Amino acid sequence: MVSAAFFRIVTCFASAALTSASASPRQPVLTPRGYRDTADVHLVPHGGRISHVGKEIHVAHANGTIIEIVPAPTSPTTSAASRGPAGSVPLETGWLSDAYWINPNPAGALPIKWFSTDFVVPPPPVMVSEQTLFLFPGLLPLDGSSILQPVLQYGVSAVGGSTFWGVALWYVIGDQTIFVTPLRSVSSGTNLQGILSLLNFTTSTGAPTYTYWTTMLPGANSPAGLTIDVPFEFTWSTVTLEAYNVISLESYPPGSTTFRNISLQMEDGSVPKPPQQTWSVQNDWMDGFQTTVEVDSFSEGAVVIDYPISESS
Ligand SMILES: *[C@@H]1O[C@H](CO)[C@@H](O)[C@H](O)[C@H]1NC(C)=O
Ligand SMILES: *[C@@H]1O[C@H](CO)[C@@H](O)[C@H](O)[C@H]1NC(C)=O
Ligand SMILES: *[C@@H]1O[C@H](CO)[C@@H](O)[C@H](O)[C@H]1NC(C)=O
Repeated sequence: MVSAAFFRIVTCFASAALTSASASPRQPVLTPRGYRDTADVHLVPHGGRISHVGKEIHVAHANGTIIEIVPAPTSPTTSAASRGPAGSVPLETGWLSDAYWINPNPAGALPIKWFSTDFVVPPPPVMVSEQTLFLFPGLLPLDGSSILQPVLQYGVSAVGGSTFWGVALWYVIGDQTIFVTPLRSVSSGTNLQGILSLLNFTTSTGAPTYTYWTTMLPGANSPAGLTIDVPFEFTWSTVTLEAYNVISLESYPPGSTTFRNISLQMEDGSVPKPPQQTWSVQNDWMDGFQTTVEVDSFSEGAVVIDYPISESS
């Protein structure tokens, strides 16, 4: 059964965003961090690079030319994804179900170097309406104030889309600053590999700088991907399903999605090992959802999200 609370929460949030928009020229658009203003969404070309430089964020073309400078959020709020190690998924975004692991090492000591997972583009939803679904691996700092994520989406978001599956790479800071690469469509049945990697980092020169790179293979923005230079470490790894404007169980694809071959490696090449380190799961709001850690491993891990309608029904 579906919890009625889920529909209420998502519906309320969506209509609140739309109401405030009608009072001002702000245009709400959907991102994996909920509804945001279209003016806060910045398109980054394939192979682009986003760098925090003091109080600015520079967006560079793949050829190195800076094409846009955006003020850095002064105090990125953490509300959009705040969760302590034992905390809860944010209500105002559509996170439904996720598996996560948080690096227990102190900042700068032993960062996550590599995080990747393979998954197959699902069939279309059983019923097509206005729903938007996002499936992704992602990396966040411990306070959840930003996220780097190669995202598979169905439906419409700030980067476009319609009744098809598409891939784009997102870097979202706080509630307000959203970078995304152009959306590319992918067919159901395509094998995707989402990759997040720490290219290098320095903690010695006062301000730490971590350079991360993400891509989604094949096809989407690959192999160029998206590079970011950030003054903090990403310590929280997740594989997540989000959904918006869901009106029934049939708003989801049938069957299940498996994030398989989940690989996570630390800077020194070591791989976290159960039972000391394990994937945790959270299923929020929807009783019909079942996320299961099928293989609790950081080298060939598998996490299954069962949609509420089975393939055979
Ligand atoms: C780099 O890309 C920008 C944006 O497309 C373009 O205007 C510029 O001419 C390019 N520079 C070089 C050296 O190719
Ligand atoms: C990290 O690597 C990138 C890409 O190779 C390079 O441009 C950047 O300068 C490096 N950063 C540091 C801090 O070494
Ligand atoms: C699993 O992922 C790792 C890391 O990307 C890759 O080297 C390996 O080939 C993958 N294994 C399979 C069976 O796809």
